[in-house]
Amino acid sequence: MRYFGKNINLFLNNLMVCYTDDGPDDAPVLIFIHGFPLNKSMWKKQLKALKEQYRVIAYDVRGHGESESTDETTFSIENFAHDLIYFMDALKIDKASLCGLSMGGYIALNAIENYPHRFESLVLCDTSCFPDTPETIEKRMKTVESIEKNGLLNYADNSVKILFAPQSQTTKVAEIAAVKEMILATSIQSLSKTLLALCVRKETCTLLPHIQVPVLIMVGEEDTITPPVTATYMHENIKQSILHVIKHAGHLSNLENSADFNKQLKTFFASVYKDQRTIPSEVITSFVEQLRDKMKSVIALLTI
Ligand code: MLT
Repeated sequence: MRYFGKNINLFLNNLMVCYTDDGPDDAPVLIFIHGFPLNKSMWKKQLKALKEQYRVIAYDVRGHGESESTDETTFSIENFAHDLIYFMDALKIDKASLCGLSMGGYIALNAIENYPHRFESLVLCDTSCFPDTPETIEKRMKTVESIEKNGLLNYADNSVKILFAPQSQTTKVAEIAAVKEMILATSIQSLSKTLLALCVRKETCTLLPHIQVPVLIMVGEEDTITPPVTATYMHENIKQSILHVIKHAGHLSNLENSADFNKQLKTFFASVYKDQRTIPSEVITSFVEQLRDKMKSVIALLTI
């Protein structure tokens, strides 16, 4: 049985995973994976834009949003990718398309590397196949210390300055407030454990030439964390890929220019699922009613 709606809890491998599930039952499945240190609510506008034609699912990665974590839980991109597969198994989803932003993209790349037969297409947004440089690792370690010392609010204030493009700092006030709220809702323990997981993640650049499904790569024009040059590298190394640079956006391109972001998603998934999209149920009902009326007239004519 499928549960519809927001904030559904699923008990998976001794942990509660929280997710949102919307759209028609028999439509192609799109799974959205959030970035760090955010949660599934970052995908609200994308779910709304796509739910008429696709089954859209966004879940909280363990330790983020409303998904649980315990002291003993190990955080790694590999484990996050395994969680995704367990999650798909629990929901009886054999195949899906993935849309991952930044850390969500690292998880998507790891998942397709280990379970290529489970995915029909990928959208990689503001992400990278490269591992952390020694400088980035050092920075992350300092961040772990600083969160402990200066607290979450200070971390949230500093993060939004880097995540959003300079112009978004004044034009995307509501989005910035929402992102701060997401950061403040994450536990210090989860933030620290995820920062360490990001430091030790493996590269996935060697995987790129082997990806066999269509890939859309999107990047904010002013993304300084995973810049357009990284997106271009990935595009050049994935055979069936399209690259689109989102204007007026930094690292959170889906929030900073959702109109263009959603337009690209719609065009891409329309091409991936050309023949499989669900016809809205009202259209089918109206077609059946018209057919029944026609049949009645034909029968009436034949019985005269
Ligand atoms: C994210 O948005 O997920 C993070 O910026 C990823 C990272 O720091 O590597």
